[in-house]
Amino acid sequence: MPTLTKERFGTTTDGQDVDRFTLQNKNGMVTKLISYGAGVSELWVRDKNGKPVNVVLGFDTVQPYETRPTPYFGCTVGRYANRIAEAKFSHGGKEYQLNANDGSHTLHGGLNGLSHRVWKSELLPGDSGVRFQISSPDGDEGFPGNLAVSVTFSLTDENELCIDYVATTDQTTPVNLTNHCYFNLEGAGNGTVHDHTVQINAESFIPVNSAYVPTGEIGAVKETPMDFNQPKRIGQDFNKVPGGYDHTYVLRTKPGELTEAARVSAPGSGISLCMLTTEPGVQLYTSNFLDGTITGIGGVYKKHGALCLEAQHFPDSVHHNHFPNVLLEPDETYKQTTVYRFDLL
Ligand code: BGC
Repeated sequence: MPTLTKERFGTTTDGQDVDRFTLQNKNGMVTKLISYGAGVSELWVRDKNGKPVNVVLGFDTVQPYETRPTPYFGCTVGRYANRIAEAKFSHGGKEYQLNANDGSHTLHGGLNGLSHRVWKSELLPGDSGVRFQISSPDGDEGFPGNLAVSVTFSLTDENELCIDYVATTDQTTPVNLTNHCYFNLEGAGNGTVHDHTVQINAESFIPVNSAYVPTGEIGAVKETPMDFNQPKRIGQDFNKVPGGYDHTYVLRTKPGELTEAARVSAPGSGISLCMLTTEPGVQLYTSNFLDGTITGIGGVYKKHGALCLEAQHFPDSVHHNHFPNVLLEPDETYKQTTVYRFDLL
């Protein structure tokens, strides 16, 4: 049975209390969850020598989580993960203007997305996890409908961090939630992830333009640097992908079925990560915009100092009818499950 403790993490600059929860399983795997952004601030996994290693980038105070622009370390991202082009979309004959926070585009839900709010929290029965809840009002960041979101984190004795999302709305609205953990399986702040081996179960990906907005094509990965069907050292083709990886992979998942999406491992620690999700896509982002100016738990966070595997629908789906639907209707319930399972090589 896991153990769970709750403590005061700190206070936001506008005076809201933020809690931190420490959840530990019988193997000594520990995750720390914070109510600011419903995020994972630490994740301790044992390496091949039995030593605990914190494998996610994060902070031990509230303030650095509040900054903008932000790297979104470990947080829940919404209402819409990744970009919506030109910060607008149309539905039912009406155009909705969103807040732009990435040039003229909306990134990760806008200026004040769900990653930058204090969520309500409750402990799950048996101390198996924590549920965070938030109500996003009609018009929030420009999105229509009152949206109720809950994100539940639990830890199993099989070393799985499970994340379950549920959302409902009272008006048709786009919803695309994800978790934005930055993984470095050699330890947060311990160099780059160039030597991590990555495998992704995807034959295609979503090509983007220079502003990281989808062109609308679905690209084949075969015989390109984008191909991770066979395990590959991630640094191998870095110089062939301008800026580094920041692309959505189209997974071989059946809608709503929990399927293995990706595997990552690190040679030094021997830690390996298997990611499973019900989502149709995963964003591989190799922390291309980190530049060594941020210091967090474990040290300095360098360019390519971590990688994100963000389970999600495709970016900018509201402008591409051939992408899977992201519009949530009032009589529907949005559901997503994503699991990060840790093991040794
Ligand atoms: C996006 C990047 C973005 C980063 C922000 C990722 O999910 O794909 O383009 O810069 O988040 O930290």
